[in-house]
Amino acid sequence: MCGIVGYIGNNNSVDYLLNGLKSLEYRGYDSAGLALIENNRINLIKSVGKVQALEDKLSNLSTSSTIGIAHTRWATHGKPTDENSHPHLDCKKEIAIVHNGIIENYLTLKKELIEKGHIFKSETDTEVIVHLLEEELSNITNNYEENLIKSVNIINKKLKGSYALNIIWSKTPDIIIGTRIKAPLLIGAYDDCNFFASDISAFIKYTDQVIYLDDYDVAVLKKDSIKLYDANNNEKYFNKITVDKNVNEATKNGLEHFMLKEIREQPHTVMATIESILENIDNAFGINLMDIKSVKNVLLIGCGTAYHAALVAKYWIEEFAGVPTQAELASEYKYRKIAQTDETLAVFISQSGETADTVAALEKAKLSGFKTVAICNVYSSTISRIADYTFFTKCGPEISVASTKAFTAQLASLFALSILIGKANKSLDDKDVIKLIRELSLIPKSIENIINDEKSIEGIAKKYYTEKSYIFLGRNVNYPIALEAALKLKEITYFQAEGFAAGEIKHGPIAMIEENTPVFSIMGYDSVYDKMLNASQEVIARGANVIAITDKEGNQHMIADIVDRIVIDNTPQYLSPILNIVALQLFAYHVAKLNGREIDQPRNLAKSVTVE
Ligand code: M6R
Repeated sequence: MCGIVGYIGNNNSVDYLLNGLKSLEYRGYDSAGLALIENNRINLIKSVGKVQALEDKLSNLSTSSTIGIAHTRWATHGKPTDENSHPHLDCKKEIAIVHNGIIENYLTLKKELIEKGHIFKSETDTEVIVHLLEEELSNITNNYEENLIKSVNIINKKLKGSYALNIIWSKTPDIIIGTRIKAPLLIGAYDDCNFFASDISAFIKYTDQVIYLDDYDVAVLKKDSIKLYDANNNEKYFNKITVDKNVNEATKNGLEHFMLKEIREQPHTVMATIESILENIDNAFGINLMDIKSVKNVLLIGCGTAYHAALVAKYWIEEFAGVPTQAELASEYKYRKIAQTDETLAVFISQSGETADTVAALEKAKLSGFKTVAICNVYSSTISRIADYTFFTKCGPEISVASTKAFTAQLASLFALSILIGKANKSLDDKDVIKLIRELSLIPKSIENIINDEKSIEGIAKKYYTEKSYIFLGRNVNYPIALEAALKLKEITYFQAEGFAAGEIKHGPIAMIEENTPVFSIMGYDSVYDKMLNASQEVIARGANVIAITDKEGNQHMIADIVDRIVIDNTPQYLSPILNIVALQLFAYHVAKLNGREIDQPRNLAKSVTVE
């Protein structure tokens, strides 16, 4: 994971680097650091913790350096300590490197380098890169820039894994070098300064001119020029793209947490997403109806919350279109043999569009010749650039690590895609399509009603927030919602939370039930209401406190033993996941708040998981 940023220009680099790091903090916040070149020497400052801690440390620094590289870390190799923080230096403290990614052969390389006399200061995989470069540059006494480019190309052939690097060398005080292999790195180009960054958010305030690097490119930034070289040291042509500068500065709108703001935005974000689909529904996913008609299999792929959206959509596509559908974890898809299927539509779901496992799965699906569609929330993201076509959800920036509004927008998009497949293969007629779209269009209002009922959900959180273990039960389309609710609760409260298909509990999980265990039963008045009642009674009989997430109709038929109820609008069973999860997001938020957790940036996590 990790975020990297580099600046070279006429101004003091520190502010640019800190601003860039703050925008990239979603990629990791275990530690932060920067390296500047000043008077032909490297000045290194780093700090464990968030970028704010680095900023505090820098408040006493007096510098006029106009070139620097910086890093915000999500620890992979080695604990979050000062030593393991980036940038890393070579033995002579002449080269500094920041790195996003993983070097898979670092142990072998480290052993060889130690045998050659290099002294390592950290437990990171990154440090081998800087020592390797030191080794390559050790006998260089002239043509520093040219030799640095050649050396980077040499080490690119020695390193295995995925990485993006920024490099500065005190002997070339007017350049920053960047290179990448299967990890994002782009250049922001301006009149009198240039940037490297993991994504555009780090420099979009200053420039909308962007150059995307290909794998194995080596880029050389000076304050007033940019050059790209291929793996054989030949200069290569590049394209500058103008990106949408209109990215909103994300603010909390006076609320305590981004997560709460994002939960409350859902009536608008779901509506905006639906409207964007309805503008041109037949072509919203970039594949025309004739092509969709021939689809014989659908593959839905994502990680975490996006995977849960895929699980819900599997029910929809099979119900509305009768097309065999698989939901796959991206991290599993890449590492197993896939039976080749004809006419497969592969759909990649990702809020960030940068999740490394999803990128890898997408590349594999493309190699298999599948039609690929992405559902993403971030323009110009890696996944959106690789997929044949991307539908962008209309959520605006999602800042909280726990995904909320992106999930409901993904669900709305996938619901529309399911209808479209059903329409194309004639499983649905025009009347069915109109009815389903109308029902979907009513969802934002029902989300608003849940948000208006936040106080009662907070009341239930107040009753249970001291518990350390929670169970969520659902069936059919709401089984994935049980999984998602448990994920939400565990990632922001750190408590144990498990989601189960309600029919499965008697096959094992019921053993977990103790006196007063809170069990959330997702039970609208639908085809599985009675089954959900059975499961609820089975756990009540063993001492559990059941909290029902039900609709108005279900509430009327509820048994007296279930006292705690979150009641949502009546809605067709197939659309109920979009409502149920909003209620459960609010519950998770309030439990975390009552426990004083760091809600927007929970421990050990990062918003965008850019390492496999
Ligand atoms: O950006 P993506 O949608 O690809 O991210 C996938 C997961 O990392 C993400 O959903 C993660 O599980 C969230 N923290 C869940 O709230």
